[in-house]
Amino acid sequence: MSKPQNKFIEWIDTRLPIIEPFRKHMSEYPAPKNFNFWYYFGSLALLVLVIQIISGIWLAMNYVPTEAAAFASVEYIMRDVPFGDLLRYMHTTGASAFFVVVYLHMMRGLLYGSYQKPRELVWILGVAIFLCLMIEAFFGYLLPWGQMSFWGAQVITSLFGAVPSYGEELMLFVRGDYNISGATLNRFYALHVVALPLVIIALVFIHIVALHEVGSNNPDGIEIKKHKDEKGVPLDSIPFHPYYTVKDLVGVGVFLIAFCAVMFFMPEMGGYFIEYPNYQPADQLATPEHIAPVWYMTPFYSILRAIPHKLSGVIAMGGSLAILFVLPWLDRSKVKSIRYRGNLYKVCLAAFVVSFIGLGYLGGLDPTPIRTLFARIFTFGYFAFFLLMPVYTTLDKTKTVPLRITK
Ligand code: HEM
Repeated sequence: MSKPQNKFIEWIDTRLPIIEPFRKHMSEYPAPKNFNFWYYFGSLALLVLVIQIISGIWLAMNYVPTEAAAFASVEYIMRDVPFGDLLRYMHTTGASAFFVVVYLHMMRGLLYGSYQKPRELVWILGVAIFLCLMIEAFFGYLLPWGQMSFWGAQVITSLFGAVPSYGEELMLFVRGDYNISGATLNRFYALHVVALPLVIIALVFIHIVALHEVGSNNPDGIEIKKHKDEKGVPLDSIPFHPYYTVKDLVGVGVFLIAFCAVMFFMPEMGGYFIEYPNYQPADQLATPEHIAPVWYMTPFYSILRAIPHKLSGVIAMGGSLAILFVLPWLDRSKVKSIRYRGNLYKVCLAAFVVSFIGLGYLGGLDPTPIRTLFARIFTFGYFAFFLLMPVYTTLDKTKTVPLRITK
């Protein structure tokens, strides 16, 4: 390994090894040469994580986590704190942006079979991050102490009550009180600002370490490590820097334009990013007419509501998330990328995407008999994609995968 050029960096490096890991995992990391659009979202997820942490720290400087002052402190941030409205909108837009990029990042996994051997653990860690993000968003949503905060927390924590025998105790344990109260607000605040961010940062770190151990997949689903030059560098790879640092910067630029457009001009996004009833302070005597979670939770909320029996609904909703963990073992296909899969897989994936979006759409609306029927059909579609996967991926007529990356 060549010595660092800069005297200061050399001084640090002889006391703390940073150059070698930096080279191995950043500048010289051999990335497949055919990354496309779908490969922007990992780095964008990292960017949003940083936006959330920074805006969150600044919000915490003026936010007061008490039943009496929480709502007013958010109004104070919005009206009186210099740039407070911007900070808050950055955090609310960031929450939705996080799920946009993470859903697209997961979709890439499905398109190119990124969860298949040897990247099972990368996927499993990703699912763990996804669950933590949902819990983090749920805790964060109680903090403004608006009507939706209160009633959303009421609905979701009451699900623990469906657990046989221990339901009541469990619900009390989660809420810290018999009802959603200041005690609940305090514990959600502690978990939202300290515990979960730590867990998420740690999980993201090991997600990337695990990925770099096995190497990145690519849109062709070809293992580039099978063909290396005399120095051991994969023939179909290019160094991460400058090729992908520059490519990712383009993605960051486009993303930030869209992000700023929302943050400055339509932070509520028609009630999808900030729900209008949350501009009213929490009132435990007045249930809002229509309680629905923020858009990114609605597919799973729809599954919960599609099943009439409460405990079964909770099990189905939990199952819809838990099944993601075993995905690497459900797919029996010999190929990874959609480019070499047959029509059977393509049709099933398309049906899954329609079901997922359909569930998301219905989850934001009040249930009617016809909507419930559709929610059930889509719930079936969601589970069928996973449960029938061992069958249709075995029957699917795949194409021959080239030995080397083609495009
Ligand atoms: C905070 C959330 C997340 C962050 C910051 C993050 C970050 C990253 C980064 C930087 C990469 C490498 C670049 C790339 O391939 O795009 C990556 C790859 C990957 N991530 Fe994530 N990720 C997150 C969530 C998830 C989730 C929720 C899943 C799936 C459930 C997931 C599954 C994967 C997989 C399978 C790869 C390897 C993809 C390939 O090589 O084709 N990640 N992630």
